[in-house]
Amino acid sequence: MQKIKVMTIFGTRPEAIKMSPVILELFKHSEVIETFVTVTAQHREMLDQVLRLFKIQPDFDLNIMTQGQTLFDITSRALGGLHGVFERVNPNIVFVHGDTTTTFVGALAAFYNQIAVAHVEAGLRTGNKYSPFPEEMNRKLTGALTDLHFAPTDTAKNNLLNEGVAQNKIFVTGNTVIDALYQTVSADYKFSDELLNKIDYEHKRIILVTTHRRENLGEPLRQVYRALKKLLEDFADVEIIFPVHKNPRVREIVNSELGNIERVHLIEPLDYEPFANLMSRAHLILTDSGGIQEEAPALGKPVLVLRDTTERPEAVIAETVKLVGTELEKVYGAAKVLLTDSAEYKKMATAKNPYGDGRAAKRIVQTLLWKYNLSAEKPESFNS
Ligand code: UD1
Ligand code: UDP
Repeated sequence: MQKIKVMTIFGTRPEAIKMSPVILELFKHSEVIETFVTVTAQHREMLDQVLRLFKIQPDFDLNIMTQGQTLFDITSRALGGLHGVFERVNPNIVFVHGDTTTTFVGALAAFYNQIAVAHVEAGLRTGNKYSPFPEEMNRKLTGALTDLHFAPTDTAKNNLLNEGVAQNKIFVTGNTVIDALYQTVSADYKFSDELLNKIDYEHKRIILVTTHRRENLGEPLRQVYRALKKLLEDFADVEIIFPVHKNPRVREIVNSELGNIERVHLIEPLDYEPFANLMSRAHLILTDSGGIQEEAPALGKPVLVLRDTTERPEAVIAETVKLVGTELEKVYGAAKVLLTDSAEYKKMATAKNPYGDGRAAKRIVQTLLWKYNLSAEKPESFNS
């Protein structure tokens, strides 16, 4: 039997975390699917951390990252690299994930070669072209080129329907990040980093912080970091763990505002396994990340989102996530409520799972097999 050739294309840490469960599931069907893993390496170290964890060896590595890269750098280097890859392998279908520049360029390159596109984590929208930037348009442009839309939730599906996407091209699967999370968090996990083992998680209240969004660079991040300093002054039992994103523009501001401050641990980005387990021990999470907004509700951890918009409204509705923006007083005020009002804290700290049940990758690959007449079993939907 002729196998179908599937190529996954991704480049950054979150895409790798969320695409890994799909790749591992594709590998399970090697009798009918030939899988090719292509990485642009838009991220280098942060991508490699994930590839090591899930033991995935890329077939093609474009190694495009440069320090302080612009959107033009990423776009042109990835597009050129993918041209070469498609000259060597001509897949039947390309899988891209989410909303990065690699995602969009992967879909565009596939389109130029008239190769079908599957989009994992399809249909997320804020409705604001510049927020998040450039992710909102990356998602929309990718969606326009997509043949199979794997929407994580009904909300995402409805966004696509409202844009005129045909119902029979959309499949609600849950988010693969929950598959990855379930494989990674365990109650008896021991960190290999002594600093993280030594922290007194019972008597200190740990605030876990991550920031990286392009639209927050500059004054918005400064305001957030000043709010953190104010929280430290007012709450003696608060300690901050902050794995700092590798972007030099983020690091410069973090170091100037939070360098050498007692009870602030500025550390390198953590591997996914320690990071997920750290989330499960934190008291509160402050972040502008997309993925963390999906993971923390499953772990019962309140999240204050350092953004003005979110394409992930499900957890806001479930009341485990609050959108607080980046103004000093708003960030400080929202965190203070959770540090002083135990009823408010409890309300946000109840585990909810609007994003998935750990079976998203199975549904995605089952849909692929069904679409290509390799299985008669109709894929089931995730009920979000
Ligand atoms: C990118 C994505 C963003 C995603 C985020 C996840 C785009 C435009 N942005 O943003 O959607 O939410 O990844 O983290 O697609 N760097 C390193 N080593 C690494 C990774 C990054 O040194 O392993 C540094 C490099 O100097 C690089 C810079 O960080 O130039 C920025 O990386 P880039 O991918 O352009 O932007 P992110 O903010 O990471
Ligand atoms: N993450 C990680 N190590 C860290 C910080 C985050 O492994 O030090 C994980 C996190 O659990 C989530 C993903 O990285 O799955 C989110 O990536 P990021 O915030 O960079 O991107 P976004 O989700 O905003 O696109």
